[in-house]
Amino acid sequence: MNILVIGGAGYIGSHMVKFLHRAGHDTVTYDNLSNGHADAVLHGTLIEGELNDRSHLDEVFASRRFDAVMHFASLIEVGESMREPARYYANNLAATLTLLEAMRNAGCDNLVFSSSAAVYGKPPTAAVSEDQPPSPINSYGRTKWMAEQMMSDFAAAYGLRYAALRYFNAAGADPEGELGERHEPETHLIPLVLAAALGRRTNISILGTDYPTPDGTCLRDYIHVWDLARAHLLAVERLFSHGECLTLNLGNGDGFSVRQVIDVARRVTGREIPVAECPRRPGDPPVLVADASLAGKLLGWMPEYPALEDIITHAWRWESSRATIN
Ligand code: UFG
Repeated sequence: MNILVIGGAGYIGSHMVKFLHRAGHDTVTYDNLSNGHADAVLHGTLIEGELNDRSHLDEVFASRRFDAVMHFASLIEVGESMREPARYYANNLAATLTLLEAMRNAGCDNLVFSSSAAVYGKPPTAAVSEDQPPSPINSYGRTKWMAEQMMSDFAAAYGLRYAALRYFNAAGADPEGELGERHEPETHLIPLVLAAALGRRTNISILGTDYPTPDGTCLRDYIHVWDLARAHLLAVERLFSHGECLTLNLGNGDGFSVRQVIDVARRVTGREIPVAECPRRPGDPPVLVADASLAGKLLGWMPEYPALEDIITHAWRWESSRATIN
């Protein structure tokens, strides 16, 4: 297949490009490099461009026939989305509309979209399934939920076939060590914990110790980025074989607390990791764990690296090799 990977220079997108290459597919990455890195695009062509630049997108679609588009480009910081919602609606919603229009114009009907567990807000049940009605509690989650509804309307009216994949906590790194997570600034737990292990930070802040959870810290479902990539390819194949649209959770179904993540990181790295107990971060749900059984049933998807030890081991290999280079 020939796949257009929007945001293919970013964390999940760059792993996707490598995964597709491994599976024998061709890719064109389209990325504005605002958060992505050109050197993370290990295969195929990289085109630098803005997602809201309709004429540039039209040129890209005119240059070759794409079997499908995978759309990873978005702003992802929950806290920032509350302070600067306009940027989030412009980047995550309006630019996605531009992409949908360019796809329709080009007759490209297959799309895999990066959605998020953030659409669920604070779900009432321990493991949330796709039956749970979305009720996002921050602007980031609302942009993802609105984009899903927009795709649904395009599907009904214009024949778009889409898979909305609701990631829980994407984590880990390429098992071969070539790629990893590089957000600037970094806000995600695992890379920050590993930076503390490397002495690049004095400690890791535990953001809230009074949650209604066994050890008082938030529970999250960490899913390996390579397993996410596999799910995307399976989703495209399913769009081709069955034609109907999909909305699927992607997670392992196990919740780990912030303290548990730090403990596993101490074991994996063999380093001291000092902690600072801090107040809660606004907008954090206490527990967010996936029921991803539907992805298993419809895609035959089974995570290859469900163990938190493996996720952190791969992330550590990446972080510590970067430390050597720096
Ligand atoms: N945390 C800390 N200290 C830190 C950073 C994070 O204790 O320095 C905690 C957070 O409070 C949270 C957990 O670690 O309980 C995980 O936080 P992350 O920032 O790594 O991830 P989030 O759960 O906030 O965010 C992820 C995705 C978002 C998505 C969200 C869905 O990164 O894109 O899940 O809720 F929106």
